Amino acid sequence: MNTSRTVLLTGVTGNIGHSVAHLLRGHHVRALVRGDTDEVPPGIEPICSQLGDLPESLANDTEMIIHCAADTRFRAPLEDLRSTNVEGTAALLRFASRCRRLRKFVHVSTACVSGNTGGVIPEARLTKPTAFLNAYEQSKWEAEELVFESSLPAQIVRLGIVAGSEIDGQVRRQGALHHALFWLWRGLIPMMPGTAETPVHLISTEQAAGLIAAVAETDAVDHPVIHGCAGVAAPRLGELLDHLQARFARESAAWRTGSILPPAIVDAETFALFESTVRQSGDALFRRVSDDARSFLPSLLHPRVYGTRHAEALWLQPPSNWRDLTSHVLSHVINEHSQSRVRA
Ligand SMILES: NC(=O)c1ccc[n+]([C@@H]2O[C@H](COP(=O)([O-])OP(=O)(O)OC[C@H]3O[C@@H](n4cnc5c(N)ncnc54)[C@H](OP(=O)(O)O)[C@@H]3O)[C@@H](O)[C@H]2O)c1
Repeated sequence: MNTSRTVLLTGVTGNIGHSVAHLLRGHHVRALVRGDTDEVPPGIEPICSQLGDLPESLANDTEMIIHCAADTRFRAPLEDLRSTNVEGTAALLRFASRCRRLRKFVHVSTACVSGNTGGVIPEARLTKPTAFLNAYEQSKWEAEELVFESSLPAQIVRLGIVAGSEIDGQVRRQGALHHALFWLWRGLIPMMPGTAETPVHLISTEQAAGLIAAVAETDAVDHPVIHGCAGVAAPRLGELLDHLQARFARESAAWRTGSILPPAIVDAETFALFESTVRQSGDALFRRVSDDARSFLPSLLHPRVYGTRHAEALWLQPPSNWRDLTSHVLSHVINEHSQSRVRA
């Protein structure tokens, strides 16, 4: 579809929304911002507002809504996360229902809505998992339910772990993965839960944004869920750690000589024991590392393969090479941390 549309984009200042904005050239794009409009890319009209308070006049001509905004803090309390991720989505869906010309509502979600479910995760509505690994996952699952319950022409794009740019490793806002990479580099994560065969669902920002834009551009809404995940090509935890170890050794004598060792891959019980030892130690740095690690590493205990059949027809580019992607992102993370003088 090449017709120019009037698009409302949320989350433009974030990692993914910003990249999506660049792919929407040719459309009239309005971007919801709640802070500094300097971060809005040129050619995009900033709308200074809140998710629940959009100017009613926008409903007259909005044809497409791409909802990338979310509170992405894994460790925030559930009620705080619900305020943006559930109530904010509810408000945007209500606004969308008043857009008479709406053709598509793209809701950006996360593969983590599968919580503690392992195995094959279909591109479909998921029953509530028996447990979520953090409140972020739960709030995003609840948001999806609102989208499924709406009668809008909506599609959900569930993304895997968006590591950063496959070109230069850039990440606008670092998250749990980036903190974990930094602590790994410093040798402060002695163990990881899972097995060497556990898939790690990394994709690049370009892939994520490309898929979201492609879903938005397609008129059809026959697939309610599309997985932006690496599928069967996802690296396994063992090979990912081997790659990181080789990469670290190129840059650090401590890694080359074995003064720093890669983390052991351990089972759930051993990892839980390690965490409780860290908590009891009272060491502030180890607690910080452990808190960062705990916010997403336990997902490795629930190995899964994400179905990507619906996504395959829409990918704009071949899957990124995960080795190059992680190398670029690692360089970026190390560089940013040294510049901000993060002290371990
Ligand atoms: N990055 C990943 O690995 C990943 C993986 C799976 C799914 N996702 C999903 O992809 C989407 C984008 O993630 P991201 O990585 O780009 O997140 P991000 O970098 O943390 O950016 C979040 C964006 O949401 C906006 N936002 C947060 N709270 C808001 C509120 N109450 N009202 C309006 N805007 C608000 C932020 O605006 P401010 O600048 O004003 O804070 C920012 O633009 C999210 O839905 C996330 O759940 C991300």
